Amino acid sequence: MQKHLKVSAIKDGTVIDHIPTKALFKVIKILNLENCSQMVTFGNNLDSKAMGTKAIIKIANRYFADEELNKIALVAPHAKLNIIRNYEVIEKKVVEIPKEIKGIVRCFNPKCISNGEQVTTRFEILSVKPIAMKCYYCEKITNENEMMFF
Ligand code: CTP
Repeated sequence: MQKHLKVSAIKDGTVIDHIPTKALFKVIKILNLENCSQMVTFGNNLDSKAMGTKAIIKIANRYFADEELNKIALVAPHAKLNIIRNYEVIEKKVVEIPKEIKGIVRCFNPKCISNGEQVTTRFEILSVKPIAMKCYYCEKITNENEMMFF
């Protein structure tokens, strides 16, 4: 039987595969794809042997810095990145949670300065599994189950 892609192949660009279905729109936001002028296609609730269901995003003609892509590890820790050139997958990469996170997540402490003023949140990652992050401003810890995204 011929393999039929649910989301069409791209000629050049980046394919982000194995995104948890609930994280799809967060990944779109984190990578600021709302403002991307290139062709962006995505699929959600697709069948996946490993995950049950998954989401996928394909961004034509865009290649991201590792630093940029690593930000999505907070919501899609098992995402697989495929770099496509002339229809071929020329590189596969995985994401890694960065040591420092700027923006994206709110500080759990309601009294933190970052919740009251126009200050970009900033955290040091203390633990990856489960995620625990220390606020640069108030030093309180935000845990994975308390993480709230902008
Ligand atoms: N892909 C694409 N356009 C291309 C080549 C690949 O959109 N020109 C997509 C495929 O649809 C797939 C991903 O990139 O979702 C990875 O491609 P490939 O390595 O060929 O697929 P798999 O072997 O299934 O990858 P993996 O085992 O890593 O899931």
